[in-house]
Amino acid sequence: MDKAEITVFGGTGFLGSAIVRDLIDQGYHVRIACRHPDKAGFPASDNLEKMACDIQDDDSVKQAVRGARSVVNAVSLYYEKPGLTFDAVHVKGAGRAARLAKEAGVTRFVQISGIGASVDSASAYVRARARGEQVVRAEFEEATILRPSVISDRNDGFADNLNRVTKLPVVPLFGRGETRLQPVYVGDVAAAVRRAIEMPEGGGRDLELGGDRIYSYRECLRMIMQREGRRRPMVPVPFLCWRMLAAILGRLPRPPLTRDQVILMEADNVVGSQVGRFADLGIQPLSLEEILRL
Ligand SMILES: NC(=O)c1ccc[n+]([C@@H]2O[C@H](COP(=O)([O-])OP(=O)(O)OC[C@H]3O[C@@H](n4cnc5c(N)ncnc54)[C@H](OP(=O)(O)O)[C@@H]3O)[C@@H](O)[C@H]2O)c1
Repeated sequence: MDKAEITVFGGTGFLGSAIVRDLIDQGYHVRIACRHPDKAGFPASDNLEKMACDIQDDDSVKQAVRGARSVVNAVSLYYEKPGLTFDAVHVKGAGRAARLAKEAGVTRFVQISGIGASVDSASAYVRARARGEQVVRAEFEEATILRPSVISDRNDGFADNLNRVTKLPVVPLFGRGETRLQPVYVGDVAAAVRRAIEMPEGGGRDLELGGDRIYSYRECLRMIMQREGRRRPMVPVPFLCWRMLAAILGRLPRPPLTRDQVILMEADNVVGSQVGRFADLGIQPLSLEEILRL
């Protein structure tokens, strides 16, 4: 096999590093491309190449896709910073990666987006994700777009968020805690990326990736408290209060809560009825109970 047959933009992130690990375990040669490629601390391996790359920069993206057969875009930006906007990363960056991958002769492009991506959303983040999907599709028609629900590992991602909030003396709920979520195992999303690359007829599809069961946010909190042997009262907090809190916290350099996160929690985040899903990739996803027991 050629060197660096798969480039993973954002390969040091929570999801990106799971994708890289899964691909290396399966014998692929992987190139991680992000601004700080040593951050994930992958052990040195003949199957792994690391490249400093900013998805905002044509030259470094060109270098990153050179010689690759497949490209995965798992770059994320959850809040804007001076000089770093949702548009620059999620729209222009994604479009640049797709365009330059196409020009370099890449045959598979997998774009990671999220369930609920919509150009009509009240959230600038969610709108940018939707526009990112559109530009990727325009630049790389056969791209696969994967939209996961909230992603979790046993102690990382969504489970970590739940764990931290249930350490408070009183657990504040988003609204009444009734938002429906379909938490998905990070390893299942990584496997979906690999299958999307490997499937002979793959490409040109949108898939929504949710775990095996749907839960309310309140149920998720209850499950983590049960696992941790923790008992805390849960208190409903109106979304208006969350929005006001996010408006204040959103001014911090590293905001612990953003307006976009609140907006995302106002709507159910579950797999739709008219879209591709795990079953189309031959994957049986784990439920949150199973993820928390791993
Ligand atoms: N986590 C979830 O629950 C969840 C749910 C649904 C969808 N998703 C989607 O999954 C994808 C990955 O999310 P994540 O949670 O794994 O993100 P993450 O942990 O924040 O990782 C982000 C990755 O992007 C890289 N990156 C950021 N800015 C970059 C830039 N300008 N140029 C190149 N690389 C850049 C980061 O590395 P450097 O900082 O070193 O550049 C890092 O490797 C995103 O598309 C996200 O929207 C996540």
